[in-house]
Amino acid sequence: MTGLAEVTALHYLTPLRTGGSVPGVVETDDLGTYVVKFTGAAQGRKALVAEVIVGELGRRLGLPVPELVLVRFDPRVAEEEPDPEVQDILRGSTGLNLGMDFLPGAHDFAPLRQPPQVAVTPAEAGRVVWFDALVGNVDRTVHSPNLMVWHGRLRLIDHGAALIFHHRWSGADEAVARRYPMTEHALGGFAPDVPAADAALAPLVTAALLREVVGLVPDAWLADEPGFDTPEQQREAYVAHLAARAARSAEWLPEGFADAGELARAEAARTAATLAGRPAWLQHVRG
Ligand SMILES: Nc1ncnc2c1ncn2[C@@H]1O[C@H](COP(=O)(O)OP(=O)(O)OP(=O)(O)O)[C@@H](O)[C@H]1O
Ligand SMILES: [Mg+2]
Repeated sequence: MTGLAEVTALHYLTPLRTGGSVPGVVETDDLGTYVVKFTGAAQGRKALVAEVIVGELGRRLGLPVPELVLVRFDPRVAEEEPDPEVQDILRGSTGLNLGMDFLPGAHDFAPLRQPPQVAVTPAEAGRVVWFDALVGNVDRTVHSPNLMVWHGRLRLIDHGAALIFHHRWSGADEAVARRYPMTEHALGGFAPDVPAADAALAPLVTAALLREVVGLVPDAWLADEPGFDTPEQQREAYVAHLAARAARSAEWLPEGFADAGELARAEAARTAATLAGRPAWLQHVRG
């Protein structure tokens, strides 16, 4: 089995401030440019573990996830970055971090735009929705799509919020067949054919495939987890959980997506709640 490629950061080019974890665009010694998620970010190592397991599983199931690599990082390559908050993240990120191939010229997908920026078939939408439900990725909504358009096709990015169960292993067994809220999924408006995706993909999510994928996570990101003696034990826990979840897909298959009217009403309710929580002198400020 071959692991993820390991490359070394040469230059820190710029922070991506639209991302909550402030990823950075980094040049590396393989002549590559990667969007790097740092171990020193507030989201922590588990977000990187989720990026590897979910991203690599997705690619093996045929979903368009850009290439992932491990990036050796020495904060000295970012000495010219002036923002002290970014410097704090980088100083805590010596060692291996997660890189995703930077897609030059790609732009964020806007799910509600008419006409759509790219053609998305019900089959493709169904696969993405099914996959997100499998891995508990609630961070691909109409509000936060985490989809990019590149060379006329959708690309899946940002899987750091998936695998919610690994934030509390003691409750993981109860979550095996849990249904996650998918009604506002970014591709819910593209007539996702979820049953077809389930029939095609569920049988592919075998323990062997999952073992291959969790084997790509560096030991250092799995160290010191309460309840586990070794990284290998923890890997087996991911395999067991995801294999069991795939086998029980009938219990969590997403069904029913919000239409434009429902999305607009939900948005209005959210805005009203935000405004209601503000002091009178701030009520007129939108957003
Ligand atoms: N591979 C890529 N190529 C080009 N641009 C990218 C790539 N990955 C991310 N970006 C850009 O950076 C932004 C932030 O990336 P991402 O969503 O992965 O970060 P994050 O910190 O996990 O964000 P979030 O706030 O959603 O948690 C994306 O919306 C996109 O515009
Ligand atoms: Mg994001």
